[in-house]
Amino acid sequence: MFKSVLSKQSRAIAATTTFKRTKVTLPELKWDFGALEPFISGQINKIHYTKHHQTYVNGLNTNTEKFEELYSKLDTDPVKIAQQLHAVQQQIKFHSGGYINHCLFWANLAPQSQGGGEFSAQSPLGKKVTEQFGSLENLQSLINAKLAGVQGVGWAFLCYNKDSKSLELISTYNQDTVIGNLKPLLAIDAWEHAYYLQYQNRKVEYFKAIWNVINWAEVAKRYEESLVL
Ligand SMILES: [Fe+2]
Repeated sequence: MFKSVLSKQSRAIAATTTFKRTKVTLPELKWDFGALEPFISGQINKIHYTKHHQTYVNGLNTNTEKFEELYSKLDTDPVKIAQQLHAVQQQIKFHSGGYINHCLFWANLAPQSQGGGEFSAQSPLGKKVTEQFGSLENLQSLINAKLAGVQGVGWAFLCYNKDSKSLELISTYNQDTVIGNLKPLLAIDAWEHAYYLQYQNRKVEYFKAIWNVINWAEVAKRYEESLVL
């Protein structure tokens, strides 16, 4: 009898409750926060991951839920709700970009004990870099110039252009990401939160140092995947 009552209550709760699930979570890191030292400090990685990236995760989840809620009542007051959808969509653009860009950023980094900084000139990516840029050093200089050219906050990307079948360097502002025919292979964060605690205003030093912990195996894997897509 008691069991039966509980069962009825459970069914009633299930029928009236909207269960919210967390749609996006932080990606798992394959190394400890301090493992990229001395190039990127453990303190920076910890704050960058647990505070900044978490903010984009939360913002994406919250604003996606708001969008769904607004969309469900669009017909009740179309113009007013459309304005609200427009505003929420801009929040989704910002936070989804932050979420996506940082997921790639973490995957693009590895301690030297796990191959960070090791570039294979003989790999398909290595051969493409030599063909297009002459050497890895030339490519790094061009990306560093892109990073230095970001005024305020933004990102630099090494991409594969599926239409021209070539590598392309792109910089974006805020949390804008690359889409369409551009497949991002490598993302480097030029926001101050990525370096300021260690490098202060010497961001060029950060842009040089990060090459010591770039996970080229991941970049090469993404390049080879993009060739067959
Ligand atoms: Fe960041």
